[in-house]
Amino acid sequence: MKNKIRQLAKEKNAIILAHNYQPPEIQDIADLCGDSLELSIKASKTKADVIVFCGVHFMAETAVILSPDKTVLLPHTGAGCPMADMVDPITLKAKKQALGNIPVITYVNSSAAVKAASDICCTSANVIKVVNSIDADEILMTPDRNLAQYAASNTSKKIHLWDGYCPFHNTLTAQDVNKARKDHPKACFIAHPECPPEVLALADSIQSTSGMIKFAGKSDHTSFIIGTETGLLYPISKAYPNKKFYPASLKMYCTDMKKINLENLADSLENLTGEIKVPEDIRKDALGAVQKMIDL
Ligand code: 13P
Ligand code: SF4
Repeated sequence: MKNKIRQLAKEKNAIILAHNYQPPEIQDIADLCGDSLELSIKASKTKADVIVFCGVHFMAETAVILSPDKTVLLPHTGAGCPMADMVDPITLKAKKQALGNIPVITYVNSSAAVKAASDICCTSANVIKVVNSIDADEILMTPDRNLAQYAASNTSKKIHLWDGYCPFHNTLTAQDVNKARKDHPKACFIAHPECPPEVLALADSIQSTSGMIKFAGKSDHTSFIIGTETGLLYPISKAYPNKKFYPASLKMYCTDMKKINLENLADSLENLTGEIKVPEDIRKDALGAVQKMIDL
């Protein structure tokens, strides 16, 4: 199956991208792995005719936004993001209006239509930089209230929250972290900013998924409690086989991120199925918000 996928990728001039939460066999076969920011940027630079996005729907849409001339495939079109579904463009525009037309920062975990209704995008890796780049004292952030509260604690600006959250990161509690610390007393606790504020308050470091991998490499610690979706345990343990990594909680398992497998990846490549399209007017407006972030 692996040989078949690599052969098909060559024949179709396709590049395979995998998010850090993807199943191990998908990360192993991909050309590039990374976090949302890396994958958005890499998708825009590739010379391939076809991008196969092993991730969830909004990530494939971001690839379409940045590469309109390429065919973008999502091997399982049912792979979505429950947090991205917690905001829609009509309700967002109404809320922006009600708040006096203040700028909207939207996390990349959102649909193309929501990005199109936003002023600028951000990822977990650049959220503070994006917030501080805005020339306004009040900002509305969508959809993740936890990421927005994390940003609010690092700026003097007033951040209006949208009531969205990642159902998996949001399950992590201070009690889970205290238990993991008790089990691994020497370990350093790294948390993703999608976790609730009570969890972030206990973290030794707050990082995006790729930020966690880099941080673990530079740190003098030899063991780590990982406060993000458990898929990250695979690339981080592979990168540093001499260090130990423990999940903060096994509840953090995103079922949508596990919908892609070698079979549907091969099928998508062979038959060019699962193509993701974005209407051109929405794509152009969304590109404005994504490109502003990338330029920054
Ligand atoms: P990052 O990889 O950008 O940290 O995003 C985490 C996530 O939840 C993606 O769905
Ligand atoms: Fe969405 Fe959370 Fe899954 Fe990421 S981990 S795709 S934010 S539901």
